Amino acid sequence: MTAFVPKMRYWLENYGCQMNKAEAQVLEIILNKSGIEPAPDSIHADLVIINTCSVRKTAEDRIWGRLGYYCHLKREKDFILAVIGCMSERLKEELFEKNPGIDLILGTFQKQHFIDLLQKVLAGEKPQIQVANQDYEFARLHSKDQFKAFVPIMHGCNNYCSYCIVPFVRGREISRNPEEIMEELRVLEARGTKEVTLLGQNVNSYNASKGEKNCNFPALLELITREISEIRWFRFLTSHPKDVNAQLIQCLVSNEKICRHIHLPVQHGSNRILSLMNRGYTREDYLALVRMIKNTVSDVTITTDILIGFPTEDEADFMLTKELMEEVEFDDAFTYYYNPREGTAAFGLGDTVCREEKIRRLREIIETNQRLKQKRKLDRLGRTTPVLVEAVSKKNKKELLGRTEHDEMVVFEGEEKLIGNFINLRLMELSGTTFRSVL
Ligand code: SAM
Ligand code: SF4
Ligand code: F3S
Repeated sequence: MTAFVPKMRYWLENYGCQMNKAEAQVLEIILNKSGIEPAPDSIHADLVIINTCSVRKTAEDRIWGRLGYYCHLKREKDFILAVIGCMSERLKEELFEKNPGIDLILGTFQKQHFIDLLQKVLAGEKPQIQVANQDYEFARLHSKDQFKAFVPIMHGCNNYCSYCIVPFVRGREISRNPEEIMEELRVLEARGTKEVTLLGQNVNSYNASKGEKNCNFPALLELITREISEIRWFRFLTSHPKDVNAQLIQCLVSNEKICRHIHLPVQHGSNRILSLMNRGYTREDYLALVRMIKNTVSDVTITTDILIGFPTEDEADFMLTKELMEEVEFDDAFTYYYNPREGTAAFGLGDTVCREEKIRRLREIIETNQRLKQKRKLDRLGRTTPVLVEAVSKKNKKELLGRTEHDEMVVFEGEEKLIGNFINLRLMELSGTTFRSVL
């Protein structure tokens, strides 16, 4: 039953990873079902929701800034300020203490209870808080006009990489029941969805029971691609290198519905640092895995995450990371410098690399990435490839943005009606690291 709330308009700001993005999309559907519509901007909203991320201090600082802004705005106009997501789980009451203007706080486990809590706030019970680890409920909602969808297949993480807050704010890993995943995919298929990204912090440790048998991630991929015929592309995020096996790599070879792109965060190139990070593999293991992938899957792209400035990292460790990047020739890398996170194992190691040095090392990593990324893309120029058209370019309204199977952007002139369709395009030029093409 849809809960009654007075006519309101909302503004939602989303931070963090794809999991947060997927949950924000679900919350928007829940709001719409209750008659709460999107506002054109935050100034015209009766309800402002901030979906937060705690992974780095830099992310949290930005959100503290937004909270300060909205609490200040509350002196001039009346609206409800809601904070949801990972910062709610990590900081709980501290958020209220520092920002008394907040009306409700909801953690990562209970977003489906948002309307209940909102009604309490509307009834004058203020402020409201609901965090703490309960059973996670996977939402099954998708909007009808989506041609791309995220489908979470797991929640939480058991890896406890020594620098990472995620297991503390998302709890222990749970794998979603395959029947429930298939049910959701069938609905998406019937609605004409073109691309689905299967989500989890570590999809390769997916393990659920299907009838009598255990279903691991490659088995889930096989089940999905066997039974879902109308969704053309499947992607998955994120793969932990310690759990990728030959069975998964074979899935990329034998099944053309699975995009030949793998995001494989290496984090570092030094065995000493990888061990302190508790990553569960060595540099040699990682390089052997990359060789196996490249030798088995033709025309595959590999992207990664790199984290420099971990406690005790010295110049030699750093150089090993740069050398590893050169050796793999990543198609792209998300690069970060270490932020100490209270409560994690690495917090006790201090923060030994000074900020200036972290910034210098990060800059070098970014330059290396840009150069390698461009080289990899130059190698692909001239190919004709299917592209899923995603949006109108923000820079030039006559141009459209599309994405290849390899997760590369292509810009070309075309009509808006192409959005949501596959077209074949020749990768003709490279502008920076974006491909350009013509219809
Ligand atoms: N589950 C994924 C994995 O194992 O690679 C990554 C999830 S995490 C949300 C995304 C990235 O944030 C990590 O790969 C790491 O590079 C970065 N990260 C995590 N903790 C960090 C910290 N304390 N400081 C800076 N970056 C961090
Ligand atoms: Fe964090 Fe490691 Fe889990 Fe990824 S695998 S979410 S980096 S603890
Ligand atoms: Fe951030 Fe939470 Fe994702 S901490 S990276 S939004 S799981």
